[in-house]
Amino acid sequence: MTTVFVLNGPNLNALGKREPGIYGTTTLADIEAGCRASGEALGIDIDFRQSNHEGDLVDWIHEAADAASAVVINAGAYTHTSVALHDAIRSIAPKPVVEVHLSNIHAREAFRHKSMIAPVTLGMICGFGPMSYTLALHALAARL
Ligand code: DQA
Repeated sequence: MTTVFVLNGPNLNALGKREPGIYGTTTLADIEAGCRASGEALGIDIDFRQSNHEGDLVDWIHEAADAASAVVINAGAYTHTSVALHDAIRSIAPKPVVEVHLSNIHAREAFRHKSMIAPVTLGMICGFGPMSYTLALHALAARL
């Protein structure tokens, strides 16, 4: 079975309560359920994780080198700051990594316009709420 790691960074555990005007009322558990449903339809095994700690995300990306066929990552605020995540994704090349965001980061504050990880990903999907994740899984399924 093809395994895809779906990795979530800081503050995403608070989805549902956190800034619902921007992120909606869907919880991370709802997003996980949506990913699992898409995974079943696409024949992909989903390994869904969240951490508020940058190093956990680095460790999980390294783990994906052997344990996953691809990675979907919403790195939260680390998207905009983390050279460590950029380097970790680079270190597992050519493993496909798709960056996702619930919100359209380009339509928000200037500091969110820059992604440190975008140059080392296959592509980015942002602005479609929870559907950003399932679109990423469909895009990966077409390539795997
Ligand atoms: C986010 C966008 C980031 O700028 C922000 O820091 C998040 C969530 C999104 O999914 O829209 O935590 O990654």
